[in-house]
Order: sequence, then C-alpha cells, then structure tokens
Amino acid sequence: MSIVITGSVAYDYIMSFPGKFREHILPDQIAHLSVSFLVDSMHKARGGCAPNIAYSMSLLHQHPIIMATVGQDAEDYRRWLEHHGVDTRGWKVIPDEFTASFFVSTDEENNQIASFYTGAMAKAKELSFRDLDFGQIEYAVISPNDPEAMRRYVKECQELQIPYVYDPSQQIVRLSSDDLLNGVKGARVFVSNEYEYEMVKAKTGLAHGQITSLAETVIVTEGENGSTIYREGKAIHIPPAPPQAIVDPTGVGDAYRGGLLAGLHSGLDWDVAGRIGSLAATYVLENMGTQSYYFTLEEFIQRYRTVYGDDKVKGLLQSPQK
Ligand SMILES: Nc1ncnc2c1ncn2[C@@H]1O[C@H](COP(=O)(O)OP(=O)(O)OP(=O)(O)O)[C@@H](O)[C@H]1O
Ligand SMILES: [Mg+2]
Repeated sequence: MSIVITGSVAYDYIMSFPGKFREHILPDQIAHLSVSFLVDSMHKARGGCAPNIAYSMSLLHQHPIIMATVGQDAEDYRRWLEHHGVDTRGWKVIPDEFTASFFVSTDEENNQIASFYTGAMAKAKELSFRDLDFGQIEYAVISPNDPEAMRRYVKECQELQIPYVYDPSQQIVRLSSDDLLNGVKGARVFVSNEYEYEMVKAKTGLAHGQITSLAETVIVTEGENGSTIYREGKAIHIPPAPPQAIVDPTGVGDAYRGGLLAGLHSGLDWDVAGRIGSLAATYVLENMGTQSYYFTLEEFIQRYRTVYGDDKVKGLLQSPQK
C-alpha cells in the first residue's frame, strides 16, 4: 500500500538585505516605484509542500511517492529525495520550464518582499492518477499546488475511490467555496491550521459540526498549542512537543503531516500518529528552512519517549520497507 503525495515542488531563494526597505521607498513616488536592493546573502533551499511532507516521512523510514511537475533544473532535487528513500516515479519534468521558485528578500526589520514563480507547477493539472500504476493507494495527499490540479485530483480520487487527505492550506484563497466543499466532502482526512480552518468555514458557510460530518477525520493544528483530531464524534487533543529553540517556523505544518502519515501507515493509533506529527514539526521549528533538519529513527523514538512518556511509538520500527 502506497502513500502518494501531490503538491508543489519548489526552490526557495532566500536573500537578506542589510538595511531597511522603508528607507528606500519614497511614498510620494510610489506610482512609478523602481527599486533594486543589493543583497549580501543568498541561500537556495529545497522546498515545496510535497517534498517537505515526503522528507519528514523518509526520516521515519517510509517511502512515499511524489506526483508533481518540475522544471529542467530539478535533477539534483530528485536525486537527493531518492537518496532519502522517496519514490519519484510520479515526477514529471517539463523541459522548457523552471521548477516553481520562491524569491524572498528580508530586511533587518524582518520586512519581506517576495515573488512566487509558478513555472512547471502550472502543468500539474496535466497529471492524472489514471496514468500511473501506483498499486493500491492507502492515502493520496492533495496539498497546495496549481488550483486546477487540486480540483482535478479531488475529482479523480472520488471517482477512483482513492482515500485522500485534503490539505488546501495556502491555496484556500485561490479555491472557490465549491472547490473547498467538494474537497472536504468525502475526504478521509481534512487538515488545516486554525486560521485556515476559519477561512474554510467563512468561505463555505459550513459550521464545525458540518465539516466533521462531511470528512471522516478533521485535524486542526494550533501552533504552539498543539493540534486536535476530530473523529467518530470525539476530539483528541495532541500536545505539542516542546522545542529546544525556535529558529524558523516555516514548514512545521508539512512536517506534522509527514509524521502523522508515517504513524498511520505503520498502523499506529491517531493519538500516537498525531504526536509523531508534532515531534516531527518541532524538529523543523528548531532549524532554518523546511528540510534542513535530520534525525535517525532511533533518535526520534528516544525523544518521543522522553517527551510523551510512553512507548507507543515503537510501532514505527516495524514500518513497512520499500
Ligand atoms: N511553538 C511551537 N511549539 C511546539 N510545537 C509547535 C509550535 N508551533 C507549531 N508546532 C507544531 O507544529 C504543528 C503545526 O503548526 P501550525 O499550526 O503553526 O502549522 P502551520 O500554520 O500550517 O505552519 P506552516 O504553514 O508555517 O508550516 C502544531 O500542531 C504543533 O504540533
Ligand atoms: Mg500550513
């Protein structure tokens, strides 16, 4: 049984400007704004929701499949993921395009100017679950991607009766109320952070009780307060795993999803899978970037025992190999 993750694959170009943007922007000249900032550092990082989720699973000895479109510049990314045990057979290279790219410059006051170039991601809507033989799919993850692709994957999962995790996150703003309603309705798992959850309620007009009856399991992540898993009429609170330091929160949500899926795939209960997700998220919090953390399975299990004071995590040791 495989887990297929769809979603963006991107490179993040993170630059820092040793000054203050506001000192170089003239408010009365804003109609013909033209500024160029000389930045003194640039860091290129692997990002995108699908690989972020897959990387977290791979450290927990799982082998998810990524289904996504990438550009001509992604070969090193593919090799790196394969090296970690991620299966990239659903990875399609668009030869004349670049991989989706996020360019962000931050000044010394933490103000940011950013652009996201969609690149090869715009072609994700051409991929289909029908074209690839993934064998039996335990979960398909529909994470932020080209909005039309997300629409298509929901429809296909419903038609092909593939259980799916609906994770619209950052793309909620680009999806219509009908898209969101369709995605939630019939999802095996619907997951979002608490702010996004309020946006989904506002856009669809659905109340919490309606959402929990439309999706089999609903998970709301609540930052430093942990998360709550709603299923079978019950609310299971998952306490967060305390970080040793908070360095950068980018990507915590994706690592949470990866950890949760790894736990579920290993046959563990929801409360344990949720704790695995929380601890994976904490590693991201302690490092700069979305995939710059590392742990061995043994270290992870040891830390889980220390944080949560139980041994239920040991089911991860029997996780199915490739
Ligand atoms: N300050 C924190 N301390 C401990 N755990 C945290 C903290 N912030 C986040 N987490 C863990 O990460 C999970 C996901 O966090 P959050 O709800 O902030 O996701 P998110 O807003 O989708 O993040 P992002 O989109 O930036 O990756 C939480 O449920 C919690 O387990
Ligand atoms: Mg998020």
